[in-house]
Amino acid sequence: MSDLHGQGGRAGAAPLAPGIETVGPDAPQFQVAAAHPRGMERRVALLFIVGLLGFAGFGAAYWQNSTNYFLGLSLGVGFLGLGAGMVAWGKYLMPRGPFSESRHPLGPSVEEKEKFVEDFASRGKVALQRRGFLVKLLSLASAVFGIVAAFPLLRSLGPLPKKLFYTTAWRRGSYLTTAYGRRVHVDDIDVGGVLTVFPGDDIGGALSQTLLIRVGQPGENVVTEPSRANWGPDGYLAFSKVCTHAGCPVGLYQRLTQQLLCPCHQSLFDIGPGRPAVPVFGPAPRPLPQLPLRVDSRGYLRARAGYDEPVGPGFWERGGTT
Ligand code: FES
Repeated sequence: MSDLHGQGGRAGAAPLAPGIETVGPDAPQFQVAAAHPRGMERRVALLFIVGLLGFAGFGAAYWQNSTNYFLGLSLGVGFLGLGAGMVAWGKYLMPRGPFSESRHPLGPSVEEKEKFVEDFASRGKVALQRRGFLVKLLSLASAVFGIVAAFPLLRSLGPLPKKLFYTTAWRRGSYLTTAYGRRVHVDDIDVGGVLTVFPGDDIGGALSQTLLIRVGQPGENVVTEPSRANWGPDGYLAFSKVCTHAGCPVGLYQRLTQQLLCPCHQSLFDIGPGRPAVPVFGPAPRPLPQLPLRVDSRGYLRARAGYDEPVGPGFWERGGTT
């Protein structure tokens, strides 16, 4: 209501209350500061366009993975254009005032309130209605910024994992291969020995890493559970090396107790008879997946099939896939 009562008189306007003067839309307070409003409008529009282009440039630079230099520059130009346009609009294209209100009519009558509403409706819109174009441009620049602001959220999440976490590179017939690319022969490891192995086409793969352990004697078929009767030929067993707690490599084998130890949070997995890497201590929520093995006609160890469940942390239990 600050624009109701001014210090200048209004020709022909009825006073709102005795002793209170009102001013009309032609009063000096309602005039804009710009000497040439049209020209100022164009300059403000130009600033908004600069801001719009800056934000759009930031979006494009982010999408293209551009350098921080261009990201900062384009974002800076966007904010600078938008901010400068808003300041110029407020300073030069809005009624300049000053506006004041008489203090004594603290309790307006019903008639005064009605008069106020009527008066505001007739003059309050004056300042804004003329700037429809700028309002639209400001809205457009803000909308572009809003969209661009979502880019970091959308793009920085990285690529979709798709089925990456559900399968590994192990397939039926994959050779058990060392980190140096050498195929593992059945005579390579002594009883009690362990070796980290990978499928031949994914050497070093984080999800494919597998611990090969010779727990039994040559010729002995090691059975961890009845449904895996032929998974452990010639004394060998193989388990995913990715801990089911938080994904650390489970690389420590205690031969005497036949347990695997994860060094991160001390989860213990029992690989004794009838215990297919069942966790017996620590936070690991489920057993290590077992890789079924066979020995081919030349004595090389190969996968009988890939893992039959996802390897790694317990996310999968929450996802209902196991
Ligand atoms: S990651 Fe293995 S116990 Fe935590």
